[in-house]
Amino acid sequence: MISNDLQDIERRAKEELERDQSAAELENLRVRFLGKKGELTAILKQMSTLPPEERPVVGQLANRIRANIEQAISARGAEILAISAAKKLYDEKLDVTLPGHHHDLGNLHPINSVLHEVEEIFLGMGFSIAEGPEVEYDYYNFEALNLPPDHPARDTQDTFYISDKVLLRTQTSAIQIRVMENHKPPIRVIASGRVYRSDAVDATHSPIFNQVEALVVDKGITMGDLIGTLELMMKRLYGEDAKIRLRPHHFPFTEPSAEVDIQCFNCGGKGCSMCKGEGYVELLGAGMVHPKVLETCGIDSTVYSGFAFGLGLERIAMRKYGINDMRLLYENDLRFLEQF
Ligand code: PHE
Repeated sequence: MISNDLQDIERRAKEELERDQSAAELENLRVRFLGKKGELTAILKQMSTLPPEERPVVGQLANRIRANIEQAISARGAEILAISAAKKLYDEKLDVTLPGHHHDLGNLHPINSVLHEVEEIFLGMGFSIAEGPEVEYDYYNFEALNLPPDHPARDTQDTFYISDKVLLRTQTSAIQIRVMENHKPPIRVIASGRVYRSDAVDATHSPIFNQVEALVVDKGITMGDLIGTLELMMKRLYGEDAKIRLRPHHFPFTEPSAEVDIQCFNCGGKGCSMCKGEGYVELLGAGMVHPKVLETCGIDSTVYSGFAFGLGLERIAMRKYGINDMRLLYENDLRFLEQF
């Protein structure tokens, strides 16, 4: 009986709708029962076999059942939608009252912050910044700086040689030569970087340390310019009370040469344990660029003169921050570094 088959379809459709379904499964179900090739259509195709008087009755029944199933499917569809919307809301919930993730901000290493300070001071005076390689030719590190192969002063910088002609630079002065080779005066540069000397590690020595070099070459540059520049730098680094003094010294690449001391902050120059009774503490080496060095770089020493100085950044940082052991600067212990 067709009407029995129709009712059977309705019953089965409702039964299946009771079960859990996804939106896709629900659509499959609709196609299976109501689609063009679905069960209901298949039955309606048999209508022609019915006696004519029965057809309107069965037709009405079929329409009602179709409407029922359709309505049940769309009700179930709405339910599925509501459930998935609620689940989405739940999954994506955001508790704006939760404490945030805290990221620790890093800070500059004391050596870098001193370097930046020095760079600021010199950039302010119109200097530019130069660079050079850490693995350097003997020529730039020594020979062109008026230290020929057998020069005794080479011994004072215990050098790591890589080959006869190549070494780890012992001083940033090597960069001076590279600058003068490539630039005509006026020259005003500072250059910084790591330098290497075969020293045993202790509170004031390390085989790797950092230097900053300054070089000025122009017409009429005198020792007065050197002293004025040094005084300005020291006052900016250590405050207006900073006092320096120059002691005669010898570097092969400068003539005259000087070592520059700063008055001891601890005793104000009277002499104490910190300055070993001297009243002053040694800070850097300086001098007027040796005419031979200028000539080696193709600069006419009868027209141009210049000054240069080189200082150890570790020493500056230790003075500035009251650090008494150089090793602290290399150990990267956060408890130490976070103080700066
Ligand atoms: N290069 C010297 C050193 O390392 C320092 C220096 C630089 C001296 C420039 C004079 C001029 O000891």
